[in-house]
Amino acid sequence: MNGDTLTHMPPRIILGIESSCDETSAALVNIDGDQLRVLSCRTAGQDDLHAEYRGVVPEIASRAHLDRIIPVIRGACADAGITMNEITGVAAGHRPGLIGSLLVGTSTAKAFAWSLDIPFVGVDHVMAHLVAGLLDQVALEWPAIGLVASGGHTSLFLMRSPLEAQLIGATIDDAAGEAFDKAASILELGYPGGAKLDALAETGDAAAIALPMTRLDKGDFSFSGIKTALALAARDPKHARKSADLAASFRKVVVAQIIRNLTLALDEHATPSCLIGGGVAANSLLRREAAIACAQRSVTLRIADLRWCTDNAAMIAGAGALRIARGECDGWDLAAHPLSEIARGDRGARRRGS
Ligand code: KG4
Ligand code: ZN
Repeated sequence: MNGDTLTHMPPRIILGIESSCDETSAALVNIDGDQLRVLSCRTAGQDDLHAEYRGVVPEIASRAHLDRIIPVIRGACADAGITMNEITGVAAGHRPGLIGSLLVGTSTAKAFAWSLDIPFVGVDHVMAHLVAGLLDQVALEWPAIGLVASGGHTSLFLMRSPLEAQLIGATIDDAAGEAFDKAASILELGYPGGAKLDALAETGDAAAIALPMTRLDKGDFSFSGIKTALALAARDPKHARKSADLAASFRKVVVAQIIRNLTLALDEHATPSCLIGGGVAANSLLRREAAIACAQRSVTLRIADLRWCTDNAAMIAGAGALRIARGECDGWDLAAHPLSEIARGDRGARRRGS
């Protein structure tokens, strides 16, 4: 250890593992104070394995994770030039997600931590999507309004610090990403379709075909009615060969609803900052509109870098690093769980009556 490092907290290198759905990912993140620096991130996708089913098949996903997890971890270490012995903690996304898939990442993380005799922490994947906006950034002023818009969640939070998120809004039916995927399927763009619909929408006229805005109570999101309206419009012969206009119109109403709830929350809580993450945070219209809404209110916006919007282990390593830096550690008995702890109001939990 050189003299420089003796005057600081020793830099910590956290291995993160993500396997909640169909991405197998491993990342190394360095934490120094509250600064999170991504050293490497390797992600192996499985779109090719699930495309013919137009959705993720859980058993196929968990078996593919088993094949890929060790090579992906080795790859992340090689990319960062880090040996196993330099890792000071291991984090896994242990909830929410597909239970068989979560078990692969969680068990692997425990095995690494056990064998290296270093702390293991479980990370809530929804929390990690929020932390994605903090990677490779300077410190943020708290509190913040947090928004996660992904394939499984559309949730708004009031955040007092990076790991304290209080749910203040959630979808009452589909998640935004799920709606984008279903809309893409209606327009026959293939699976997964959110990014494809976004690209097509860039070439269309959002004013050409009017889709209705859903009227909702403050904090509630709902996307299934918009999706049905799109399905009906797509069947109308006068809209034949107007896929780009349909895509633009659909994207416009979905993004308008998200921005409406986001701005209501920013105005009510008057926070200095806003954090946005999740796969739908990659949407180009959402990024533009969120930037405008935050600039109008002099709110600092941290929208996850495009690399860290869709599922990745860098955000898991980042959230785990923040916990480990506080001295926290989970037991070997920490279970994988299908639901988020912080986004309980979301669709899965409501359907189960909790
Ligand atoms: O966060 P994520 O990778 O997985 C979950 O945690 O669910 O989000 C995946 C979702 C998919 O539904 C995908 O279609 C959507 O994010 N997505 C997009 C875009 N890129 C990915 N939706 C809209 N516009 C995009 N550019
Ligand atoms: Zn996700």
